[in-house]
Amino acid sequence: MAFLADSLKRIKPSATIAVTDKARALKAAGRNVIGLGAGEPDFDTPDNIKQAAIRAIQDGRAAKYTNVDGIAELKAAVVKKFKRENGLDYKPSQISIGTGGKQVLYNALVATLNPGDEVVIPAPYWVSYPEMVLLAGGEPVPVVGPMERDYKITGEQLDRAITPKTKWLIFNSPSNPTGAAYTRNELKSLTDVLVKHPHVHVLTDDMYEHLVYDDFTFFSPAQLEPRLYDRTLTLNGVSKAYCMTGWRIGYAAGPEPLIKAMAMIQSQSTSNPAAVSQWAALEALEGPQDFIAQHNKIFKERRDLCVAMLNQANGIKCPKPEGAFYVYPSCAGTIGKTTQSGKKIATDEDFVTELLETEGVAVVQGTAFGLGPAFRISYATKTTDLEEACRRIQRFCGNLR
Ligand SMILES: Cc1ncc(COP(=O)(O)O)c(C=O)c1O
Repeated sequence: MAFLADSLKRIKPSATIAVTDKARALKAAGRNVIGLGAGEPDFDTPDNIKQAAIRAIQDGRAAKYTNVDGIAELKAAVVKKFKRENGLDYKPSQISIGTGGKQVLYNALVATLNPGDEVVIPAPYWVSYPEMVLLAGGEPVPVVGPMERDYKITGEQLDRAITPKTKWLIFNSPSNPTGAAYTRNELKSLTDVLVKHPHVHVLTDDMYEHLVYDDFTFFSPAQLEPRLYDRTLTLNGVSKAYCMTGWRIGYAAGPEPLIKAMAMIQSQSTSNPAAVSQWAALEALEGPQDFIAQHNKIFKERRDLCVAMLNQANGIKCPKPEGAFYVYPSCAGTIGKTTQSGKKIATDEDFVTELLETEGVAVVQGTAFGLGPAFRISYATKTTDLEEACRRIQRFCGNLR
């Protein structure tokens, strides 16, 4: 439509949201559908956090605009969080709080990208990274971490992808969509390369930091390599670990001029994130943390269940990821086969479409995340549903000829 901006031609809608909508529509039509598409915990927000929000409303602290990029109390709590959990020293003036990590990330890209600037993005990637880069006028440069290396990239690959035009590396560990998390040594191979390229900045998305299993130790790039501190934006939020996706609070810490530029963009677009959500996020960061370990125990059991059951399905191979709440099995062994109803599976998109049609299981095709043929399962869903979904996937694959 001529009325719409040309910039929209560069981007596409979110495949994960599309799958969730499709599953919802089938459910509304009376089908028995198990949705494994959405990337949010099935647990409710902990009660202490809800109570803090209720108190903020009752005390009149939720009624008015706040500082554009966050109330001082929450910025102070974020400063403490980075010190306590990541050994990183920041001042409140280096903290930006926004409407979800998503807004903070978008602000950072809009604040820094000029036409032609390149952003290195390890694939499989979170669907929004390349689209946001495109919207902000930059060029995404995907670098594939293959299944054989648990979907991680190496220092040599990163080195080869960097050009004089590279502005950022967007790093995400544990990863959405693969759940893969970089060990200290794996991350070191990347930070060693970054040290050699002082023009490249690091946008590290640590959103799934707390969701790691089997005693995995998480490291953030600036924590592991202090020489990167001055050119790293460390992004995090309360959505995943604190079961607060609907509250929309994310935050980042980085160089003051960048944080100021991000605040300027926010001041002219959305202003402050919802005041009530900021008070709730303050309680999340400062209150009891023990429920995270309880949730992780359940997430780990679900991960193990998925990996075991999917590896028993014909044509499916599923690596065991270190964290987040996703698994990313390859469906290469099903390509070229035919369903019972006579449909040919030529791509992973065909695989997920037919799986949804015949078995009522909603997953997202890997090509949406930059590496196929594969699909993403979010196991942040009731264990009984998950088990049933894996059984249906086994049946679907078993019936392919
Ligand atoms: C890797 C990653 N980063 C950032 C976000 C954004 O989270 P929010 O905007 O809810 O803080 C998500 C949400 O799906 C994600 O998976």
